Amino acid sequence: MSIVNFIEEYKKSRRTLYTTPSHGQGSFVAPLSKKLIGSRFFTCDYSEIEGFDNLSNPKGIIKSVQDYAAQVYEAKSTFFLTNGSSSGVTAAMYALLTRGDKVLIARNCHKSVYNGLVLTGAVPVWIMPQYNKEWGIFESINTEYFAEILHKNKDIRAVIITNPTYEGVMTDIYKISLICKKYNVKLIVDEAHGALWNFHKSLGTPALLQGADIVVQSLHKTAGALNPSALLHIGKESSVEPKHIQEALNLITTTSPSYPLLINIESTIKYLDSEKGKLHIFETVKNINRFIRSIKTIPNLEVYTNNNDVTKILVKVTNLSGFELSDILFNDYKIEDELANEKSVLFLTGLGTTKSKLKKLEKALFDLCAKNIKITQSGYYTDYVPIEPRVRYIPSLIWEKPCKEVELKYSLSRVCMELIADYPPGIPVLLPGEVIKKEHIEYLASKRQKIRVLL
Ligand SMILES: Cc1ncc(COP(=O)(O)O)c(C=O)c1O
Repeated sequence: MSIVNFIEEYKKSRRTLYTTPSHGQGSFVAPLSKKLIGSRFFTCDYSEIEGFDNLSNPKGIIKSVQDYAAQVYEAKSTFFLTNGSSSGVTAAMYALLTRGDKVLIARNCHKSVYNGLVLTGAVPVWIMPQYNKEWGIFESINTEYFAEILHKNKDIRAVIITNPTYEGVMTDIYKISLICKKYNVKLIVDEAHGALWNFHKSLGTPALLQGADIVVQSLHKTAGALNPSALLHIGKESSVEPKHIQEALNLITTTSPSYPLLINIESTIKYLDSEKGKLHIFETVKNINRFIRSIKTIPNLEVYTNNNDVTKILVKVTNLSGFELSDILFNDYKIEDELANEKSVLFLTGLGTTKSKLKKLEKALFDLCAKNIKITQSGYYTDYVPIEPRVRYIPSLIWEKPCKEVELKYSLSRVCMELIADYPPGIPVLLPGEVIKKEHIEYLASKRQKIRVLL
């Protein structure tokens, strides 16, 4: 039985509900919402009424659908997340770490890792992935350097790696997992951007098949599901106990999960796993590859193709900063990208990326590059160069401490009290508890004048 069928059947029973949600399955919908969304979505929005299952302690229909998903993904267990990968990352940390435990984290992590640090009281040891200045992006993690850190820090309990990166760049997770096993360290992989990998192997190899203990994927990023649907999987061979993950999720997620999201998660997985779905992914990837081949013929344009998932298209144009290219596309062609940096622009694609959408971008890029527009002003912002963090206080010890705002230019050597991250990609530049360095001030000068510091 699926959640979809179950709800269809349930609707026929016409029970009268005096329960939440109080819209009464669409009997009331705020007029402006009704105008924009309609009421159909509301008709599928239930709570844990009699006969329904409970996401925080699944025993019935949700459990059986999660079990089905675990089979599809070749996982020991799979959990549906209606609070995004953010909740999965934080819960994974909660399940594995306790106060004072050391955790090795790749610095290009998503800011949800910070939430996990505050809640668990774990001590971060940061590893800087390689950085590509030409494109303004983080690249893979050097596995020898990674092994060296684990060798020197035998008390590290867990590792958190983002793979692929926001721009689709991959790290050798198989090697990383072997090193983790050697040092008896648990491996969490934030695969938020790799949700299609289990269904099209040429995009990238899923971390679940490479020995990771916990893998988190956002279904909304590339796999065409609603925001913020996501999955947390436990690796088949992992000793991580599903009950520990469930307990951790229950600590941080809502007690009223959205049934429309659960329906969408289930049907997205079923679609991805179907012949039709696989063909759809195949066609999408084929169209993207054709698009990339075409725009690569533009003389003053470059596409990033180096060990990355092609669904993230990273482009740069000679004589234009990424920000300028982004602005021109937005203002002159009504095309909005996912993110831009000083060097390049990222176009995020997925199951909803149609041929005609790609055609529009292709035409715009050809047109724009033919005009050979020159940089009109130097970059908006100072180039980002990864800055090695100096941790004075760990996040859990600092986040409640009193702070004050000071002029950025006078903040040298003070302890930062803010999480500073460009969003997207949400990679922290500074975290609360870290010392503000000259390089931070230089980088942030074009973006802000003040910063919160420890009193
Ligand atoms: C690498 C990475 N991990 C996790 C997340 C959080 O995902 P979600 O939006 O599903 O909570 C993001 C969001 O941008 C991300 O880029």
